[in-house]
Amino acid sequence: MAEQANSLVQIRDLYKRFSISGDLLDQLQFKGGKLTRHREYVHAINGVSLDVMQGEALCVVGESGCGKSTVARTVMGLLSPTAGQIAYRGERIDNLSDKQMLPYRKKMQMIFQNPYASLNPRMTIVETLQEPIKFHNPSMTRGEIQDKIAEVMLSVGVDPSWGERYSHEFSGGQRQRISIARALAVNPEFIVADEPISALDVSIQAQVLNLMMDAQEQRNLTYLFITHDLSVVEHFGTRVAVMYLGSLCELASTKQLFSNPRHPYTQALMSAIPRLEDDRPDYIKLTGEVPTPVNLPSGCVFHGRCPHANERCKQEIPVLTALDDGTQVACHGVEEDRL
Ligand SMILES: Nc1ncnc2c1ncn2[C@@H]1O[C@H](COP(=O)(O)OP(=O)(O)OP(=O)(O)O)[C@@H](O)[C@H]1O
Ligand code: SF4
Ligand SMILES: [Mg+2]
Repeated sequence: MAEQANSLVQIRDLYKRFSISGDLLDQLQFKGGKLTRHREYVHAINGVSLDVMQGEALCVVGESGCGKSTVARTVMGLLSPTAGQIAYRGERIDNLSDKQMLPYRKKMQMIFQNPYASLNPRMTIVETLQEPIKFHNPSMTRGEIQDKIAEVMLSVGVDPSWGERYSHEFSGGQRQRISIARALAVNPEFIVADEPISALDVSIQAQVLNLMMDAQEQRNLTYLFITHDLSVVEHFGTRVAVMYLGSLCELASTKQLFSNPRHPYTQALMSAIPRLEDDRPDYIKLTGEVPTPVNLPSGCVFHGRCPHANERCKQEIPVLTALDDGTQVACHGVEEDRL
């Protein structure tokens, strides 16, 4: 697969739809005296292409239901694409058998939103951590495994002497640290984190975020970081991908996105951030109904709510295009130089 220099993960023309019409019996309907089969889909991702670059923290933002988690899960191989491809260092991985996928499972790890659900309550912390280490490093000795467990526990700020405790004995923040330790235990290169701090108390969100940033620096990690919190993006992200209704609207460096958002949806998102210093445009109130991914709008998926929509926007799907400053935007208005 064609890849840019320094690109670690390549997502190409990705589509994912989910059937919501049940089994065959549910799908059969009588219409005009005839038996017909009626199928309905949620179009969760519609033609997303992007590269995650080596060493970056690429944040994916957008409102609830826009497809962020579906992108994350598809990249990790937890869902298979309806169309399109995922590649790792140029090698396609979306069509591999479990066995072929094994080396990638070690390089790619995922951290989930809910540390209560993602840790097995019947396992001690040591058992939780040694499971992936043993699985991915069958030749490691007991001593080496113990050293590795102690190393990752220390690196996430959990005292190794607590190893025999169970996850329910820990707070949410500590559990998320343990989930991070489990991901780090197999020396991954790439971590997909799906809202990893949004279930935590606000007071400890920053600690866990800082921990992830330290791990990135020390271990040369690359992150795909899903969040709906723009202050987290500003703090953590090197680049940002903005999604709306399963499409990528804008892909820009964090600096560019915050100083000069180009896509009308990004502009509306950014204008909603409360700020003390008032140097940004006034709050942009979006009108129009939020469409559903079951009946996708024609043309630009944002046209029903965009203050700049014209006839072309209603008909033609805009393509993500690079501007002079490197920002990529999918908007006819920007392309036509009227925005
Ligand atoms: N297994 C599934 N079956 C049917 N629809 C699904 C399934 N998983 C996701 N969807 C739908 O796909 C769309 C995208 O969902 P996704 O979870 O990726 O959104 P999200 O951006 O992560 O949202 P949130 O911010 O709420 O986590 C939504 O409309 C969702 O209801
Ligand atoms: S393509 Fe048209 S409708 Fe879509 S964001 Fe741009 S101006 Fe608005
Ligand atoms: Mg989600």
